[in-house]
This record gives sequence, C-alpha cells and structure tokens, in this order.
Amino acid sequence: MNRKYRKTLIAGNWKMNKTPSETKVFLTALKTILPKGRWCDIALCVPSVCIPTAVRAMRETRVAIGAENCNANASGAYTGEIATNMLVDAGCKYVIIGHSERREMGETDAEVNAKVHAAMDAGLTPIVCCGETLEQRESGITEEWITMQIKLALRGITEDKVRKLAIAYEPIWAIGTGVTASPEQAEEVCQHIRTVVRKLFGSKNARATTIVYGGSMNEKNAFELLAQPDIDGGLIGGASLVPEKFVKIIEAANQPTV
Ligand code: 13P
Repeated sequence: MNRKYRKTLIAGNWKMNKTPSETKVFLTALKTILPKGRWCDIALCVPSVCIPTAVRAMRETRVAIGAENCNANASGAYTGEIATNMLVDAGCKYVIIGHSERREMGETDAEVNAKVHAAMDAGLTPIVCCGETLEQRESGITEEWITMQIKLALRGITEDKVRKLAIAYEPIWAIGTGVTASPEQAEEVCQHIRTVVRKLFGSKNARATTIVYGGSMNEKNAFELLAQPDIDGGLIGGASLVPEKFVKIIEAANQPTV
C-alpha cells in the first residue's frame, strides 16, 4: 500500500453466494464489528438480487455496495442483463468487470472494455480484473498476458479517468484454491501493472491508481500481502463471506505504512 498517493480498497466479491435474507443476517453481524478507522475504502460486491437489501443495510456506514457484472448497453432487448444506470439507481458505487469466472463463460476483452466505459460513464468505479492461468505462468508469459489484458480493458480510457478505476490482479491458479500468490509474486505483477499504466497514462496517474490483489486472500495472509508497496488492497472471495474474516482483512489494511 502507499496511502500517500492512492486509495486502499478492500472489496468483497460474494460471487453466487448468499440470498437476500442471508445478506441481511451477514450485514447485521458485520455492522457490529466493523472497525472504526478510516484508512481504507470498503466495498461489498454482491449478487444483483441482494443489492437493494445490502444498500439499505449499509446506508449509514462506510461500506459501499457493488455489483459483480454489468451490461455495456444503456437499455434494450438484453434479457437477463443489468445496465449500469440501473446499478447506480439501485445504490451501487462499484462494479467488478472482467472477472476470470465471467471470462471463462465467454466474456471477451472487447466486452470488458465496453463495460469499463459504460461503468465509468455512469459514475461507477469499475474493479477491472486481470490474471494468468497456471499454464501461462509456467510458460513464462505472465507479464505479456497481463499487459495485453490491461491494454485491451483500458482502451480509449482518457488520462483524467484512469485514476477513478481500480485494477485487480487475480491469478486464476490462486482463485478459490487456497493457494495464495506469495507476497513477492503478487507484488511483482502488481508492480508490472503499474508500469503498464505508467506507459499508457503517465507516471502521476500510475502512482494514483489503486491496484489490488485477489486469490485466496484471507485473514491470515492479508497483512503480508498488503505490506507490499504496489498492492493497494484486496478483492476477496471466500473470506468475504464470513464477517469476522472480512473485518480482519480490513484491519490488516490499517497497518502502519508509508
Ligand atoms: P477467493 O478469495 O475465494 O480465492 O476468490 C478470489 C476472487 O475471485 C475474488 O474476485
């Protein structure tokens, strides 16, 4: 983290977990144990049907609610899809874009890019995901792959806008596997992402961009990961489903740093 230049973000990604009723129970528990500090931004990205419950429950808190996906079109015949203005109207502040689980379902880099534009135009903060497979890592092409994903995802984004988004580095081999990237591995790629952002948008913008890590981040390894200079937070799956674990990760973001 480097709080002097950029925001720290601890964001949960619930994926396809929890009903609206379970959301209410979770957030009631979370509110009673939420740390008072103001060090980091906190977001919970929840299933669409849980958004209204979550927004209502967290209205008076500093936990922002986000969606896990959006459609790039403004409106129209897209059965089952949700437009960015609907998310805004429902009270969302964030939206995860280009998660590897959605890319696995067929989401392309061009769609990711269109969604980033739509989200930013609507005033949402996109959490743009990238990450390599184990095969790509073992073939030594992690940096090339990540460079390509970032360049395509941020295509056409202007310099004044890039600071308003967050990038999540999520190595696919670390997601839901219990295998976390080591702090050095995660730092190496997050640093590389910052270099790519620097080349595209200049050093001031790169320094101000929030880059988080995701992939089996939990209450035990968060402190060490967040101590890395280029890891500005976390995108947390499994551990964000348990209030006590999520809070411990928020507390890890409160550690003294530069
Ligand atoms: P886990 O924390 O469950 O590995 O999930 C990470 C993730 O995919 C967050 O978007």
